[in-house]
Amino acid sequence: MCGIVGYVGHRQVSSFLLEGLRRLEYRGYDSAGIAVSRDGDIQIRKKSGRVSEVARLVEQKPIHGTTGIGHTRWATHGVTSDTNSHPHIGGNGQVVLVHNGVIENYTTLKTHLQELGYVFQTTTDTEVIAHLIEFCFNEQIKLGDDPTAPSTCVKAVEVALTQLKGTYGLAILFQDVPDLLITARLGSPLVIGIGDKEHFLASDATPLIGYTDEVVYLADREIAVLTADSLEIIHRDDGRQTPAIHIIDKSPGDIDLGGFEHYMLKEIFEQPQTIENAMRGRLDDDEATAKFGGLNLDAQTLRRIDRIVLTGCGTSWHAGLVGEYVLEEFARIPTEVEYASELRYRNPPMANTTMIFAITQSGETADTLAAIRECKRKGHPTLAICNVVGSTIAREADGGIYLHAGPEIGVASTKAFTSQVMVLIQLALFMARMRHMSFPAGQRIINQLKAMPSMVGKALKCHEQVRDISQKYAEFNNFLYLGRLYNFPTALEGALKLKEISYVHAEGYPAAEMKHGPIALVDERTPSIFVIPQGHIYPKVISNLEEIKARGGPVIAIACEGDDRIADLADDVIFVPSVEEYLQPLVTVIPLQLLSYHIALCRGCNVDRPRNLAKSVTVE
Ligand code: AGP
Repeated sequence: MCGIVGYVGHRQVSSFLLEGLRRLEYRGYDSAGIAVSRDGDIQIRKKSGRVSEVARLVEQKPIHGTTGIGHTRWATHGVTSDTNSHPHIGGNGQVVLVHNGVIENYTTLKTHLQELGYVFQTTTDTEVIAHLIEFCFNEQIKLGDDPTAPSTCVKAVEVALTQLKGTYGLAILFQDVPDLLITARLGSPLVIGIGDKEHFLASDATPLIGYTDEVVYLADREIAVLTADSLEIIHRDDGRQTPAIHIIDKSPGDIDLGGFEHYMLKEIFEQPQTIENAMRGRLDDDEATAKFGGLNLDAQTLRRIDRIVLTGCGTSWHAGLVGEYVLEEFARIPTEVEYASELRYRNPPMANTTMIFAITQSGETADTLAAIRECKRKGHPTLAICNVVGSTIAREADGGIYLHAGPEIGVASTKAFTSQVMVLIQLALFMARMRHMSFPAGQRIINQLKAMPSMVGKALKCHEQVRDISQKYAEFNNFLYLGRLYNFPTALEGALKLKEISYVHAEGYPAAEMKHGPIALVDERTPSIFVIPQGHIYPKVISNLEEIKARGGPVIAIACEGDDRIADLADDVIFVPSVEEYLQPLVTVIPLQLLSYHIALCRGCNVDRPRNLAKSVTVE
């Protein structure tokens, strides 16, 4: 996915565009560019590489104007290059635009446009949109429309969009109408910020922080027509819409580094607070249960639920696996977690008493969005556990639970995982207490949950030790992550963290499963990370650890304080506080997050912007 910004108003636009792109770089950072419109001329500065490269171009050759657009790219079609960077130009420069999404019929359209004489400069699907809009614009002029009228531009965009198949978030400038910005959405998020004689546009609210707190979320099939003084929203089928204004509750402090070297480290250390936030106002001591304001389902409907499907991708899927275990343990409701990319096409049998939960930090992951749309189409109550207020999935779900973790900017998800787990545990308590769980049992869980922010704070004390250990293992190129029961999802999550930010191969397995094949991988060059806190299955995991040691494999153990046996078995031990088994992922994941962070640093990787990745995958 990519990041889009736009502005029309009274400010010199370049600085807003560049700062906005810097704040959106977590959405994609292959290349970047801006376009500024003034007095019938549109200037473009674009380049492969980071936003800072474009900033350098603008510094060398400033562009002045008060209307502009910008884009930071995660390549889908066309290699990363200066030419393929956005913005793209339509025809002879009358139209300039940026795009987030994938146009599935772009080759057909490209051929048609080439037959009409259009010459393509790039291998992107986006350039097709630019030429198509320019073609439609000229057709409107042939019909007698005024080339300097915004209505002519709007009509051209509307006609062009009807020919596109796929997804788009667009920001469009017209050379002959310099103080106009048109934006359109189908499948890729766009937020409009409302200021005093100025309007802002961005893929999410992050670039708007510090400029305005009044926003309008564009919906699918809507076009917005922005000038300094006006905002008009037109739905493709339903016509003009009254903008629904929301207030965003973010502050500049949410998006700065706060003294940390990287967003990932900042967000790892935010977890005691974000875990607290995930419980705020939700633990009901009087009823010994949890409560949620946004489920939008009555108690009778909830009691009729006899199966839960959790769906998500990546880290969110791992949190879902913890959710599966805790919902079944507490609420005794058959639960399974499905990869969203599978669920959307697998069409499993599901009765209408099956409840679906989408788990997603960004609320924009294309596969997860498609999966819940498919479930909603079949009449299932579909809820979302999400971090971004007003995101597409949050708005399309029938209800849900927000994480309240604040913006997660590091591409590798950390605080979202622990907040998702906290929400899922509270959901399990809530569902259990409306079925069979006793008051005292509910009270015990509430008291255990209340202790978790401080427990996670204690777990963070391993930071220096983990940094030292990381140096010892930074050159290894294959790792096994092993755990059982609640620590199996944690092992998967630890392996994903290492893979995605240090590019080292790592596999997570149920510890006992490694005997069925993966143990063949074990040698002195393949460290195994055992997530092995105390619990009823601890002795079995110890056996698995010894099976690895017997084959010369180095072992790092994540173990409970007070475990006086593990040090004799593992090469390195990182201790975390001892907590109930269902809570162990919240503390054992901390050293795994830190381990991946420091190994990545040792290997010279870009922790916040790992190669090939983006924060939210809004394409298939
Ligand atoms: C996690 O570190 C990754 N960045 C990735 O797996 C992520 O969890 C996945 O893309 C799902 O994103 P979402 O939670 O925003 O839907």
